[in-house]
Amino acid sequence: MRKLMVAGNWKMHGDRALAGELAAASRDAATARVDVELVLAPPFTLLATLAQALAGSPVALAGQDVSGHAQGAYTGEVSAAMLAEAGCSHVLVGHSERRQYHGETDEQVAAKFIAAQKAGLVPILCLGESRQEHESGQTEAVVGRQLATVIEAAGAAAMEHSVLAYEPVWAIGTGLTASPEQAQAVHAFLRSQIAGRDVRIAGLIRILYGGSVKPDNAAGLFAQADIDGALVGGASLVAADFAAIAAAAPN
Ligand code: 13P
Repeated sequence: MRKLMVAGNWKMHGDRALAGELAAASRDAATARVDVELVLAPPFTLLATLAQALAGSPVALAGQDVSGHAQGAYTGEVSAAMLAEAGCSHVLVGHSERRQYHGETDEQVAAKFIAAQKAGLVPILCLGESRQEHESGQTEAVVGRQLATVIEAAGAAAMEHSVLAYEPVWAIGTGLTASPEQAQAVHAFLRSQIAGRDVRIAGLIRILYGGSVKPDNAAGLFAQADIDGALVGGASLVAADFAAIAAAAPN
């Protein structure tokens, strides 16, 4: 049985006051649902505050991005070892906003995935198609290519210590959600792609759904066989909503 994961990606939002509030709500949610793994991905500058606020709780911390390089003259970047030292156990790689606004290629995402694992972090690999790709029936081709590039670079065995997140770009921050059936079909496809390399890991790997997940649509998504949790944007900034999404997990 795969343990459900609910991760909050705060994107470029939040301050210390909100971090304190969300940390307290997440600690409570984790106590209420020990069967759900909670992860918070705040901006880098709030990691230290949250590491302190979450000390001794099972709520995990994630970076929103990581450099593909171990160290060096890369102004503005943060290495995986730095994230680990700041208290992170996880990191998002290849979020669509990084791919879209910062031109991250599949190969760069693969380098970040590898760098994260080298430092002992669990990468949460984000995959998803644009609206135009969706409308022209290219969803499987796009997410299949994004995933295959990482598997080829990191090796199939590396997938065991990772999490996938399917985030259709057309559903992010738009209020449009993929229907549970639509999301399930893509999740099943992704799992089949892993199974083609390693059946055991395909059974273990968590595949989160992201894109306008809210308290009122979370249960329908979590009821799907291949949806193992959520990567939540906007609703993760509202303490009650984030807790309600965790509470929507089937038990
Ligand atoms: P929203 O939940 O705001 O649509 O964001 C999804 C997302 O991008 C999480 O990484």
